Amino acid sequence: MSHYEGRWQTVKVAVEDNIAWVTLNRPEKRNAMSPTLNREMIDVLETLELDDEAGVLVLTGAGESWTAGMDLKEYFRETDGKSEIMQERMRRDCSQWQWRLLRFYSKPTIAMVNGWCFGGAFSPLVACDLAICADEAVFGLSEINWGIPPGNLVSKAVADTMGHRQALYYVMTGDTWTGTEAARMGLVNKSVPLAELRNEVEALARKLLEKNPVVLRFAKHGFKRCRELTWEQNEDYLYAKVDQSNGRDPEQGRAQGLKQFLDDKTIKPGLQTYKRNT
Ligand code: COA
Repeated sequence: MSHYEGRWQTVKVAVEDNIAWVTLNRPEKRNAMSPTLNREMIDVLETLELDDEAGVLVLTGAGESWTAGMDLKEYFRETDGKSEIMQERMRRDCSQWQWRLLRFYSKPTIAMVNGWCFGGAFSPLVACDLAICADEAVFGLSEINWGIPPGNLVSKAVADTMGHRQALYYVMTGDTWTGTEAARMGLVNKSVPLAELRNEVEALARKLLEKNPVVLRFAKHGFKRCRELTWEQNEDYLYAKVDQSNGRDPEQGRAQGLKQFLDDKTIKPGLQTYKRNT
């Protein structure tokens, strides 16, 4: 059992039955992402990566918001007067957890979007492997409404997940949309009523926990990188991932899976995962 109570000011972390529940915890500011929160999230992610108890990471928000995006006061207005290098560092901290660490995190990640999701929130949302939201959640690319074009990887994130026309419509109008619509557009995997959100996410996390974690990591990293490679490069790269996975996997999952299907006839891999000897 891992104990993190009170370790971070702006983020709450609880690891329960192999699920790390990471809660952005500034509900009075709708979990806006301040420079302090950004630095703390780097530490949270790096800490949980080395915590064997944490098998799957869920990112959520306290209160009625997932996150209202970058903190307009602490991240924007108050940094205006800071040195140019300090501004550079603040941006780097932001990118470091919101997509660099999260996108290729070594454990599966699920965004559990419980409420407001605006602006800068789209970088971590899309960097998480999977996302489930409340039907009632409200999304918006609100930058245009307060006078900037979307920065960091927000436009890239929506371009990768929503259709071209939809993404550009919301970038240009700042209109909001609901969780139900987000699921229809493919921005999240699924939306469910808020009252069912935690159970739904927990069930998905449990499903991922049944899988071989090493193979899961190579599968998701392979998928994410393959989008930016050519077909020729992909063939070589994805085969290399298969070989790397075989070489690195302490469970030797491939051998177990093949044996259970071909020799023992105890599983049908089309319908279920192999029985892990852990
Ligand atoms: N940055 C800084 N502070 C924020 C914030 C943000 N992104 N979002 C909310 N807050 C603060 C408010 O300033 C307010 O602080 P105060 O109590 O000291 O006045 C507090 O959080 C509550 O916000 P409020 O607007 O009263 O809450 P609400 O529930 O009525 O509305 C939102 C919620 C999310 C619709 C609204 O706060 C909002 O539009 N936030 C900005 C969203 C945005 O454009 N984000 C993009 C940033 S890139």
